[in-house]
Amino acid sequence: MTYNKKTIEDIDVAGKKVLVRCDFNVPLKDGQITSDKRIVEALPTIKYLLDKNAKVILCSHMGKPHSIFTEGFGLTKKEKAKIADLPEAEQAAATEALLAKAKVDDKKKFTLKPVADRLNQYLDGKVTFAEDIVGEDAKAKVAALEGGKAVLLENVRFDARETKNNPEFAKELASYAEVYVNDAFGTAHRAHATTAGVADYLPAVCGYLIQKEISVMGKALDNPARPFVAILGGAKVSDKIGVITNLLDKVDTLIIGGGMAYTFFRAMGYGIGTSLCEEDKIEVAAGILASAQEKGVKLLLPIDNHIGSHYDPECEDSFVASTDIPENFMGLDIGPATEIMFRYAIKNAGTVVWNGPMGVSEWDKFASGTKAIATAVAESGAISIIGGGDSAAAIEKLGFADKMTHISTGGGASLEFLEGKQLPGIACLLDK
Ligand code: 3PG
Repeated sequence: MTYNKKTIEDIDVAGKKVLVRCDFNVPLKDGQITSDKRIVEALPTIKYLLDKNAKVILCSHMGKPHSIFTEGFGLTKKEKAKIADLPEAEQAAATEALLAKAKVDDKKKFTLKPVADRLNQYLDGKVTFAEDIVGEDAKAKVAALEGGKAVLLENVRFDARETKNNPEFAKELASYAEVYVNDAFGTAHRAHATTAGVADYLPAVCGYLIQKEISVMGKALDNPARPFVAILGGAKVSDKIGVITNLLDKVDTLIIGGGMAYTFFRAMGYGIGTSLCEEDKIEVAAGILASAQEKGVKLLLPIDNHIGSHYDPECEDSFVASTDIPENFMGLDIGPATEIMFRYAIKNAGTVVWNGPMGVSEWDKFASGTKAIATAVAESGAISIIGGGDSAAAIEKLGFADKMTHISTGGGASLEFLEGKQLPGIACLLDK
């Protein structure tokens, strides 16, 4: 998918009220941000607007709290059973009370307040936090906003209308501003009110982050430096069918590792012991193998594996050829011979796109394959694009982040981009 969208530099923002959708869905542990990459990546756009004396209204989601905010969800099985035991006349009130409590708990867990605090560290205290989205607090803070200052609205998914792309909600948010800027690449695959709906009511352009993501990944897909090598890993073939299908027409070499490799082994008639397998995708895997051959794409699968007796970092382990996996063992990483083979294929690449770990990389014992690939990509000198939450996290954990050309801020969004799908959060923006 090639986009040629207007950016913040193509529209007059000086002194204007600008609504900016960011992806501030950052990982939190005990209320503390554990990686602020997405915040840092949003700063160039925010700083540009503040320097232009714009009145900046920032918004984002955090997590998936909306199940609680949508009727019918939010009660656990245990809570539902407890309510069912009550006299019928008391059930509605008891449900309401539990949902109200869940809403309060969710608000604490999914609030964007920690993001506002972190933004203020980077932006010299120019950001105010609004306790709601289109409520009294937000309205008052937006109305009082001065040029060169910003307000961050509370988590937009606290309003169930966000994920339903409700036009009234989008219109209400649009009424805050004169221009809409989408810079939330990580959420660009969602057609929600703040990622797409508001573009119906305001001139809509992209920020620097979306511009960077689509130009780097777009160029890699449309005009790659060759050889073009794609490395796909992760647990499921089903998650990657779209990407594989799109990439088979573009790449010279396709490397497949991770849990998904075992479904391919089944398609090739190998025994895979207790390894992960998607029975209903064996035929799809066979089709991919045939298609790669037909298109002249070199498809590399592991030739050996690091196997374990069960899914546990402390399991009994050994190394075996892909044709020799014992019945009671499962593959948990690629083996050392495969590392050498994959590294060799990556060494001379002109472009590398990587999505998904080679094994259970969160356990040190089975992280070797993913580390080997990260090292090979870092040393290759190729244009390297890392998409997907897990591979990006692995690269960062291994300390190779600054060796990569581009680590996408989008998990699902970068996958859909690599699948060649239209992203609603980008499609809705003005063309150049
Ligand atoms: C992500 O982390 O992939 C984005 O923020 C999108 O989040 P979502 O899957 O909850 O829409």
